[in-house]
Amino acid sequence: MSITPEAITTVLEKGRAAGLAASGGKNADYIPYLASVPSDLFGIAVVTADGQVFKTGDADFAFAIESISKVFTLALVMEKIGAEAVHKKVGADPTGLPFNSVIALELHGGRPLSPLVNAGAIATTSLVPGDSADACWKAILDCQSRFAGRQISLSDEVNRSEQTTNFHNRAIAWLLYSAGTCYSDPMQAVDVYTRQCSTLVTTIELATMGATLAAGGINPVSKERVIAASNTGPILAEMAMEGLYTASGDWAFNVGLPGKSGVGGGLLAVVPGELAIAAFSPPLDPAGNSVRGLAAVAAVAKALDRNLF
Ligand code: DON
Repeated sequence: MSITPEAITTVLEKGRAAGLAASGGKNADYIPYLASVPSDLFGIAVVTADGQVFKTGDADFAFAIESISKVFTLALVMEKIGAEAVHKKVGADPTGLPFNSVIALELHGGRPLSPLVNAGAIATTSLVPGDSADACWKAILDCQSRFAGRQISLSDEVNRSEQTTNFHNRAIAWLLYSAGTCYSDPMQAVDVYTRQCSTLVTTIELATMGATLAAGGINPVSKERVIAASNTGPILAEMAMEGLYTASGDWAFNVGLPGKSGVGGGLLAVVPGELAIAAFSPPLDPAGNSVRGLAAVAAVAKALDRNLF
């Protein structure tokens, strides 16, 4: 789609106003670094499938990608072993429980159900081919960078903060392993998963990553084919089912777009074939989604009159 600069200015203003009107929430604090990010940062970006880039606010601030990384590791693994193999090994159903739930895993015999909750994401990371943690990590970082159209970097500070506090995820990895649903050494899987969550992206880069999914796997800014077109549908389906955790159904009902959130305050929504909308604001609601991000992305989608349903 082509958007005129005048039209997008109004759209972004509506998103910004809706975000600023949304109050409450608080920075994630179970990862110490995230608690220290200024809560008033707020950015929105739209990138179209034909490569137009629009932004407002703090859209150039680099923040921790966190759970949004799950989408891109899923894409990498689908490329390597095929979407159906990922579907069989990990699943494609919502858990109905919090993103780091152990109960969800136990209720389903150790099958994580979704690659977008922690258990399923660790299982997905364990499927990245590579004979060492560093080889798997390099493939993931390269994949994130190709989606963003720029070299993405690990934040040593975020990674240190997470690696020294990720005990719950280590427990999840051992449970997966005991059920036969972790496909590498479990501590290697958690190490690499933790690193993939600890890269920094700007809201513009996040929107570009989403626009690559919207454009059938071709990065609309770099023009590089990043993944096969046939894998974008399954990835977007996973996002629609579980991208916003226990709020995924409400999001589908109200906004009608595949989305993905992260505890760093990022939120991404994709309009297949057309564009992606990203927002960043650190305070989260109890489900782990950015309060301002939810309001802003919903308002931008509404102003653009985009809802798949
Ligand atoms: O594994 C974790 O808990 C974090 N590295 C990522 C969690 C996350 O972003 C959940 N999102 N809302």
